[in-house]
Formats: sequence, structure tokens, C-alpha cells
Amino acid sequence: MSGAGISAESGLKTFRDSDGLWNNHRVEDVATPEAWRSNPKLVLDFYNHRRSELDVAVPNLAHIALADLEARYEVTVITQNVDDLHERGGSSQVLHLHGKLTQVRGEFSVDEVIEIGTKPIQLGDVNALGEQLRPNIVWFGEEVPLIMTAAHKCAQADVLLVIGTSLNVYPAAGLMDEVSDSCQIYLVDPKAEEISTNRKIRVYKEKAGTAVPALVRKLMRLPFNELH
Ligand code: APR
Repeated sequence: MSGAGISAESGLKTFRDSDGLWNNHRVEDVATPEAWRSNPKLVLDFYNHRRSELDVAVPNLAHIALADLEARYEVTVITQNVDDLHERGGSSQVLHLHGKLTQVRGEFSVDEVIEIGTKPIQLGDVNALGEQLRPNIVWFGEEVPLIMTAAHKCAQADVLLVIGTSLNVYPAAGLMDEVSDSCQIYLVDPKAEEISTNRKIRVYKEKAGTAVPALVRKLMRLPFNELH
């Protein structure tokens, strides 16, 4: 499970390290249905700016190491991130809990997703039904369609890697509690705080670009019965 921290070394800002501001707007004030209703142009500009950053951001060693893990394990990446760096790093199973910057949809058509790459969208850009296009992003207060799929994957997991997330935002943050008692959890975050839980968690207080390749090398060598 990954958060904004895994993309920090690719140059994409995290939410809470940069005190959650974008152009002096709190993310919580822009990524909401209310902001979309009251100031759709501000919201479109916010996502156009973040989408354009994908043209210069590249996957880092953490994204690539997770893809390497697929050589031995069945790996599902559950990410809160809306960038496409896991896919470009080579991961083949990626669940975007909060949507994807490279996708848009009609504002009333939840299922009609349109891939636009890193192109901007403006007011007046509409889908085939004439609906204004909006980012295919899950905004604060909106349903998280993939959360049950993600919870089911966690329940089946032998190993859960939690990488670069402040575990501030639910329901994503609650996924850690879905794993079985025998699941080994590894947490990678340079600012990791002690987590009060009875689960087996090994904490790496390091950057993802350093800790994840080392952790993947370890997991690739381990005899399967020593995973737990
Ligand atoms: N490597 C690993 N972790 C890092 C790195 C790094 N190089 N740099 C920062 N971090 C950690 C921070 O210490 C922090 O704990 O990544 C975490 C980023 O936390 P947030 O900025 O809160 O991002 P995230 O947890 O993904 O936010 C969850 O909140 O704003 C909403 O929908 C948005 O998906 C986002 C959600």
C-alpha cells in the first residue's frame, strides 16, 4: 500500500509535508465536490497543474523495486496516489483508491472513464452526453469504489508493505487492519511514528528509494516459510 511519500523522490509533492497547500489553497478545499460546484475552474486548474507534472516525473527506485517483486510474488499495489508512476515503474496490478490524474469522466457519469494522458481539460470540455469533464479523482467525501477490493486483497496478503503514507485518510488508512494475524507488515517512512497496534510491524525510518529496494532484495531471498 503506497501514499504520496513513494513519489516524493520523483519530485511530486506530498500532501502533508508541504503543509498540504497548493498555490495557497488547502488540498482539502480544492479536492471536494463543493469546490467543484462553487469554482470548477480552480479545481480544473489544480488538476491540470498536477497532471502536467507527470510529464517530468519519472518512477524512482522504490516503484521499480516493487515491480521487481513480481518476479517471485503475486503483487497488488494499492495506492492512494493519482500519479501513474507505479505503472510506469513496471507494476502490473495497480489499484488506484483515489483515482488517476490521467483519467477524466463526465461529471454525472461515474463509470465512463476517458484516458487523456497529461492533457489539460477546460470548462466547456464535455463527454459524448454533453456533461462537463471532471478529473476521475475520488474527492474528499466521495465514495471509494475500490475499497472493498483492496480490503479483500489485504485479507489474503502474506506480506503487506506500507510505503510513504501518513495513514491520515480513511478508508485507505484502515486497510492495515484488514490483514490476517499471520501477515508480516513492513512500514517505510522517514518520519514513521510508533503505531499502537498488536500487529507485527517492522518499521524502516528511511526514504522509500533507499528502504524499498533493500526490503525487496530481502523478500526475494527469503525462504517462503520465513516470511512470517
Ligand atoms: N519516502 C517514504 N516516505 C516519505 C518520503 C520518502 N522519500 N517523503 C515523505 N514521506 C512520508 C511522509 O513522512 C508522510 O508520512 O510520506 C507520507 C506522506 O503523507 P501524506 O502527505 O499525508 O500523503 P498520503 O498519506 O498519501 O495522503 C493520503 O490524503 O490528501 C489526501 O487523497 C489524498 O491520497 C491522499 C491522501
